[in-house]
Amino acid sequence: MARIDPHSYFDDQQPRTERWHLRFLVDFERRVLGGEATLVFPAATAGVLDLDSKGLTIFRAWVSATGAEVPFELGGEEPILGRRLRLTLPAGTQGVTLAYETSPDAVGLQWLQPAQTEGKRLPFLFSQCQAIHARTLVPCQDSAHARVAYDAEVVVPEELSAVMSAGPEGVVPGPIPGTRTFRFRMPQPIPSYLLALAVGELESRDLSPRARVWAEPATIGKAAWEFAGVEEMIVKAEEVFGPYDWERYDLLVLPPSFPYGGMENPRMTFLTPTLLAGDRSLVDVVAHELAHSWTGNLVTNATAEHFWLNEGFTVWAERRLLRNIRGEDACAMGWAIGQNALDESLERFAATPELTVLRTHLEGVDPDDAFSSIPYEKGARFVATLENALGEAAFAAFLKAYMKRFRFTSITTEDFVAFAEAQAPGLLARVDADAWLHRPGMPANAPVFRSARREELTTLACAWPVRPEPDRMRAWNPTELLVFLQNLPRALSLEDCAWLDRELELTGRGNYELLVEWLCLAAAAEYAPALPRVREVLMRVGRMKYLRPLYKALGATAATRALGRELFAQASPGYHSLSTRVVQGVLATYPD
Ligand code: BES
Ligand code: ZN
Repeated sequence: MARIDPHSYFDDQQPRTERWHLRFLVDFERRVLGGEATLVFPAATAGVLDLDSKGLTIFRAWVSATGAEVPFELGGEEPILGRRLRLTLPAGTQGVTLAYETSPDAVGLQWLQPAQTEGKRLPFLFSQCQAIHARTLVPCQDSAHARVAYDAEVVVPEELSAVMSAGPEGVVPGPIPGTRTFRFRMPQPIPSYLLALAVGELESRDLSPRARVWAEPATIGKAAWEFAGVEEMIVKAEEVFGPYDWERYDLLVLPPSFPYGGMENPRMTFLTPTLLAGDRSLVDVVAHELAHSWTGNLVTNATAEHFWLNEGFTVWAERRLLRNIRGEDACAMGWAIGQNALDESLERFAATPELTVLRTHLEGVDPDDAFSSIPYEKGARFVATLENALGEAAFAAFLKAYMKRFRFTSITTEDFVAFAEAQAPGLLARVDADAWLHRPGMPANAPVFRSARREELTTLACAWPVRPEPDRMRAWNPTELLVFLQNLPRALSLEDCAWLDRELELTGRGNYELLVEWLCLAAAAEYAPALPRVREVLMRVGRMKYLRPLYKALGATAATRALGRELFAQASPGYHSLSTRVVQGVLATYPD
């Protein structure tokens, strides 16, 4: 018996689920999914099967083929893991079915009231299962080790549509009057964290023969314009990684409480509406989620302890796509912005340096609490270091071999190390991979990404309070302006704030990367004209990347702290539970 994932009761000596048949009845009134899940095994099996579950009420379990009762036992509640659900399968069980329902506060789901949508007319539901929240939707082996194919039937009120991380298989009238049943099929084996569902008033637009965007009617036009370049991205990504294997690449724009920028749910990337800047300046998030189709969804981290394998490779790939589509300077700016995030995370984890290694040890640690830019940016720098050591052409071949060797499998850092050692003997020693993977902070040989543009902007920012020519600043693109703002001294005077705002109209910006960077500066300076906009953003948006720094900036003075607390009290009923937790963490650092 071996449990090999600190965040799951999955036992690799027990039967492995090969496929799920899911039936969800989406109940907006009670905020639960009523469910039936059938777990199918590759062959008839018997004995103990341990599943993960969190907040699930299990009504009954039976052998799918015969209806014979399957005894089950729920273990005690563990704060991170949830409850072990132990089934004892009778001899000859090929599939087991569980009737159950989810809890209204399942972390993996957010139920939105009509007021929280753009349309304001109908409710909305979306899931977010990474890292370990699939168990709040389905009783399952909730470890990335255990890959499953699935099919699903989702019953929803007839005015609403359902999408999933799977291929659509049609819509039929539902079992209850006033409902429709949406059918889906995901034929390829995926880790449980890639299970995804969204239900709402949705419309779609084709972007290419294999790509389509979904959004609420009020947003669909803007979304189709913003992401029009997605087919070009797929083509460029195929040049880096080989053919796109998932048939379709669709996008879903969620309501603004979505806690992440993007989530790489296979065949249906989930995106925050804060990407809709109106100038296509934030589409690198799409490049990132698309790249996960290879690094993450084809080759998957075996557990959250190897998360850098997903994110490090993906950030590297995102910047390679950026270089191939928009050129060297744009790519260098991407690395520069990443450096900023990396420095912030290194600082945040100064007291817990064990979280700044790439290969982490997370026994007893919630993956959501370990989340930071380290696996992303340190990971991407490690990948870039490998590329520099091998040379671009040899690394391209290495990457293709890596994909070929591990496609549709879930691997550990140790698997990667063994592969690299066999593929390019001596490479890991040459780049001091041990320091990258196992030691805190940044290794001495971390690559530096230089660009004349970036240096010019940082030099100007560092010369502050000397002000650059306003005309020159207005000619910068959003990324250039962001790099400039990020490098300004943190404590600006009110007069500086007023000047910047007047010359650059920062408070009115619709590009959230820029806007939030500015609002952090403005809030810390108690620049009153920007505070209504801070309120607006915190009341509307639940993306953790923006909530964390904004609430942190509001920690600067007693007056802004009072504002921060007041806004949180008002806004948090609309936040995702993950966002609420992150903000509570920030508020707890306020000194009074
Ligand atoms: N897979 C992540 C999101 C995630 C990570 C969700 C861990 C839950 C647990 C996704 O690919 C991601 O990294 N999103 C980033 C965007 C990106 C461009 C760095 C985000 O949401 O900001
Ligand atoms: Zn990612």
